[in-house]
Amino acid sequence: MVRTGLVGLGFMGQQHFAIHQAMDNVELLAVCDKLPERVAEQVEPVGGNIGEAQKLDLSGVNRYTSFDDLLQHDGIECVDICTPTHLHAEMTVKALEAGKHVICEKPMALNPAECQKMIDAAKASGKLLFIAQCIRFWPEYELLANWVKSGHLGRIVSAKFTRLSPPPVWSEGKWLLNTALSGGALLDLHIHDVDFIIDCFGMPPAVSSRAANRVTEGPRVDHTVTQYLYPDFVCVAEGGWGMPGTVPFEMGYQVLGEAGLLQFSLATDPMLQFFPAEGDVQYPQVPAETGYQREFVHFLECLEKGVASERVTPESAMNSVAVCMAETESANTGKVVSL
Ligand SMILES: NC(=O)c1ccc[n+]([C@@H]2O[C@H](COP(=O)([O-])OP(=O)(O)OC[C@H]3O[C@@H](n4cnc5c(N)ncnc54)[C@H](O)[C@@H]3O)[C@@H](O)[C@H]2O)c1
Repeated sequence: MVRTGLVGLGFMGQQHFAIHQAMDNVELLAVCDKLPERVAEQVEPVGGNIGEAQKLDLSGVNRYTSFDDLLQHDGIECVDICTPTHLHAEMTVKALEAGKHVICEKPMALNPAECQKMIDAAKASGKLLFIAQCIRFWPEYELLANWVKSGHLGRIVSAKFTRLSPPPVWSEGKWLLNTALSGGALLDLHIHDVDFIIDCFGMPPAVSSRAANRVTEGPRVDHTVTQYLYPDFVCVAEGGWGMPGTVPFEMGYQVLGEAGLLQFSLATDPMLQFFPAEGDVQYPQVPAETGYQREFVHFLECLEKGVASERVTPESAMNSVAVCMAETESANTGKVVSL
């Protein structure tokens, strides 16, 4: 049994709350949010761009408005951090120093220097630090990674990733629309594909990005298209949250290998399709689960074994932040940025 505490009960924290509650081997001892109404007995749902929002019943859980108080609650072994990105480093370091294991939402932090502080604190504490890069665990993406890494798709010719959403107006005080606090769509949303691309194909030697803004001021980060300059195949990702509010959230990919085209889109039925180089179209089946559930199950297995995750190391999550920084620089200077 793993005894947990959860901080940040907005869109993502509410999703995590339901997952903690659904696990037989987890006892959620306490939750924390700075807003008293989010730690009331009954809490109104916060909807986001994916997943189902449901009213929360917190009556059986200890509730705090101060993170320090949550950390002092007796018996918590592991803290789940679902607060705004600019708080990730500070809260993670505090929790590790208090002797807790940490699962922290992506992006790991606002920049690699903050990520490094988190890594150093994990090493000094001997506790586990896991960054919730959920797309690595999303069934349709897991299948693609397996097909690429096993050679099932053959030599890769091209890979294209898409992630487009209306603006995240649900966020508390609209912090996500403040680029200084969130890094904008490029760091917050597009990082899912960046992280997956690095995991699947390795660190790109350089990136070339273009970006434009629709909903924020400052550096161009609302909608980006990046080319990852691998020497032997074409790789492109488009990400943005400048879509009109009526546009459904979309994520997907089209990856062409010598053995055929594997493609996934929330907008097609079926969502996952394989067009082999020869023969009829196929519809691969994957578990009807989200990456949120699967990453948590994986993290719990790591905790139970007492070993760090080999699937998402903190260093790899830091690399994803570093590539997003390089893309922001490329988009705002017009230059290719080497990594
Ligand atoms: N994995 C994914 O697909 C995914 C999706 C959305 C968000 N996220 C990430 O989850 C994190 C949270 O995003 P969100 O959309 O849930 O934001 P949100 O604004 O909906 O929720 C954040 C919550 O943190 C609380 N909070 C802020 N400061 C606090 C403090 N000092 N102490 C305690 N509580 C505090 C807020 O009151 C709010 O309830 C971000 O890092 C975001 O990037 C991940």
